Amino acid sequence: MKNIVVLVSGGGTNLQALLDAEHRGELGPGHITCVISSSPSAYALTRAENAGVKTRVLPKKGVDRETYTAQMVKALQEEQADLVILAGFMVILGPELPAAFPNAVMNVHPALIPSFCGPGYYGLHVHEAVLAAGVKVTGATVHFVNEVCDGGPIILQGTVPVKNGDTPEVLQRRVMENVEWKLLPKAARLFCEGKIHVENGIARVDE
Ligand code: GAR
Repeated sequence: MKNIVVLVSGGGTNLQALLDAEHRGELGPGHITCVISSSPSAYALTRAENAGVKTRVLPKKGVDRETYTAQMVKALQEEQADLVILAGFMVILGPELPAAFPNAVMNVHPALIPSFCGPGYYGLHVHEAVLAAGVKVTGATVHFVNEVCDGGPIILQGTVPVKNGDTPEVLQRRVMENVEWKLLPKAARLFCEGKIHVENGIARVDE
């Protein structure tokens, strides 16, 4: 068994995809043991409780990045996390996190990295930037977290078309439904099965 701890901040649809995948037996040896939220009011907490998964709240408000990262690393060590998944987690953590869990923290980003990523690119803002640039294809990326925001080894990517008349909300929904909710559970399973290897900053996935 591999302990998976999921970090959340908001609605938690990616968390739900992970919970549903585990329920269907699709996480291999992965088991979601704890959900940690940066906000006490995140609906993701209700999703975890409904699934019978332990929850913790580590409020970000008023805490500087270094202190918050140290608190998070301590919590993850207490939970004996084998894999940490950032699923709509809207706090940028310091380099102490990947240092404590090298190539064991993954994030889902709602664009095709290295485009539309880095500080300031989160949630709907990403889709607004995609529409403003006029690109015709977008998607999502699951990657390992390193010391560079959205800069770690890319594990899986998937694409969707950008269509005439799309709003940021419509595009976000298309990216989530068609890419994020499928690729995140898949990446978690591949990790737990030992099928992702990082060499020279590149992730090799043996499917
Ligand atoms: C998702 O689209 C996720 O990729 C994005 O926020 C949304 C959270 O939705 N994450 C980021 O932008 C992180 N940089 P959810 O709470 O329903 O999973």
